[in-house]
Amino acid sequence: MQQLCAPPLARHPVSLRPHQGVPVKRYVYITRRGHFSAAHRLENPAWSIEKNMEVFGKCASPNYHGHNFYIEVTLRGEVDPDTGMVVDFSDLKRIVDRHLIDQVDHKNLNLDVPFLRGVNPTAENLVVKFWEQLAPHFPSGMLYKITLYETAKNVVEYYGPSED
Ligand code: NI
Repeated sequence: MQQLCAPPLARHPVSLRPHQGVPVKRYVYITRRGHFSAAHRLENPAWSIEKNMEVFGKCASPNYHGHNFYIEVTLRGEVDPDTGMVVDFSDLKRIVDRHLIDQVDHKNLNLDVPFLRGVNPTAENLVVKFWEQLAPHFPSGMLYKITLYETAKNVVEYYGPSED
């Protein structure tokens, strides 16, 4: 009986690829998940408390509120033929923990985190600042995406700065 789940490899022989002889890149995307708990308050300091409450609702409450944030840091790279890895997951974990999680976990994001000073800590602003925090620790172009879950239902993604 014919197997349905795995077509024979011979159906897609490398020699029949278009652009024969042009080396192809085989990018693999690897993701490390992390978690932190933190407090914040959304505020545009140029606005009155009334206007802040109008725009940000409960998130502008003066005495802060907390979230259990989850983050996913995705790298893109080719598999090293010697190691079989893009990046060792333990190295990725160490960088994410040291340069991000340890900086924000159990902190007040408005008051306690030097790299967030002066930033209105919306999920959107946070993910951009997190990118700036992490990108220098990876080879150029390797950081592909950061996903930040502010709640189970509110998620932001950032693919880094672009020119368009
Ligand atoms: Ni909030």
